[in-house]
Amino acid sequence: MKVFSDKTKIKNYVNGKKDKGFAFGFVPTMGALHKGHLSLVEEALSNNDYVVVSVFVNPTQFDNEEDLEKYPRALDRDVALLETISSAILVYAPSVEDIYDGNTKAEHFSFDGLEFEMEGKFRQGHFDGVGTIVKRLFEIVTPNNAYFGEKDFQQLAIVKKLVQKHEIPVDVIGCKIHREDSGLAMSSRNERLKPEYKKAAPFIYKTLKAAKVKFGTKSAKEVTDWVERQFAKHDLLKLEYFTIADVETLKPVKRKSKTKNYRAFVAAYADDIRLIDNIALN
Ligand code: PAJ
Repeated sequence: MKVFSDKTKIKNYVNGKKDKGFAFGFVPTMGALHKGHLSLVEEALSNNDYVVVSVFVNPTQFDNEEDLEKYPRALDRDVALLETISSAILVYAPSVEDIYDGNTKAEHFSFDGLEFEMEGKFRQGHFDGVGTIVKRLFEIVTPNNAYFGEKDFQQLAIVKKLVQKHEIPVDVIGCKIHREDSGLAMSSRNERLKPEYKKAAPFIYKTLKAAKVKFGTKSAKEVTDWVERQFAKHDLLKLEYFTIADVETLKPVKRKSKTKNYRAFVAAYADDIRLIDNIALN
């Protein structure tokens, strides 16, 4: 498997192959790969000749030093795992220096308001960091298609907006949330859950599913109040937010409309680990 750490080398390699007519898929990740990431890689492999997987824990999207420090890093294991899947995969695992050239700062973006909702309210500067790294990675990897998980639905919406506003020639494809058998959305952070919290965490998806059923007959406010009460009764999980939002604007729904699509979004803490999840409501 080819593993690149130098932006010029991977860019030249990809361009050489693209000149010969090969199509490139791209799956950006922060590593500690799990089956959720691999489902994106599989989808990319089925629609492209080659797939680049980037592994880079991007410092500018963390608003919390400790979260950045504790973020799991397992490059050797990640490469070994990808090697078992396909020889059409290339890995790009740059250093902070290769990406930021001594200036580890985020650019500032406007995503037409998408950045102020949900995660944007609780993670200061997060989407500027995501916009900065994704834009740079797109410039380096120059893929035809890029794959992002609905697990981070707001991130997916923001990346689509980034591409549209900056006229980046890449198709952004959203992929379904991959879950453990318990229903818990797969996440690199799950590795850090202590057993009792790991056992408790599937409550998040269970509550989302129940909220979906309730949304069939009840208002967004009633459903939200109900969810907040369920979390308030829970001993181990602490709700940060539950929001029912319009999938286009990501703004909280005031009054339901039959012509709009909605999703419910949750962020909750299990101990000191922040978990997010979401579900389509209609
Ligand atoms: P990371 O959290 O590693 O996720 C990489 C990609 O995998 C994202 O598109 C994410 O939505 C997707 N993903 C994670 N868990 C998933 C699951 N359970 N099911 C389906 N897809 C899942 O998201 C990031 O990294 C970073 O913000 C990044 C885009 C790489 C920029 O640094």
